[in-house]
Amino acid sequence: MNFEQIFENNKKWIAEKTTQNPAYFEELSKNQSPEILYIGCADSRVTAEDLMGAQPGELFVHRNVANMVVSIDMNVMSVINYAVAHLKVKHIIVCGHYECGGVKASLQQKDLGILNPWLRNIRDVYRTHQTELDAITDTQKKFDRLVEKNVEEQCINVIKTAVVQKAYKERGLTVQGWVFDIRTGKIIDLKIDFPKILSHIMKIYNLE
Ligand code: CO
Repeated sequence: MNFEQIFENNKKWIAEKTTQNPAYFEELSKNQSPEILYIGCADSRVTAEDLMGAQPGELFVHRNVANMVVSIDMNVMSVINYAVAHLKVKHIIVCGHYECGGVKASLQQKDLGILNPWLRNIRDVYRTHQTELDAITDTQKKFDRLVEKNVEEQCINVIKTAVVQKAYKERGLTVQGWVFDIRTGKIIDLKIDFPKILSHIMKIYNLE
């Protein structure tokens, strides 16, 4: 993909949108009221809008290596705060994916420099679920399961935030955990039991 091609594609895209609706960009520029905050992996193959069939204005998106929600990461915390308290999204989706390079790297016992502290968070997910994961002998299945467990733990990290707890009580905000199966293209709903998780962790993490 070269830059000329990108600008050419952009022209075509503008033409397409304005043919369907001449006021498309005028309307788009006015404001945004997305109903969904999508937290996904930065992987180039996992494009939030494409895989969900979403249009501009429908998703508020945050992507990082291995779709992590780290409580001292000002970036993701600001995104969650802005999306929930100001944009008033109705749902938060944490979407992982099979064959995730970040999760794979965390399974290697290796010094990866500046990536170490980031990957440490995924290694902590492994340690939390070590009994289950160590029992899986098939390497691929173990990798897949860690991807799923990582999504679950990141959903829990979302639920630990005060702004999310408040929005859940006040207006029924939901948190969903998904895995994009990059081998088939399917989105798998891990069916995270939000109220159950909340009741489990509130003894320690209640911030209201
Ligand atoms: Co990834």
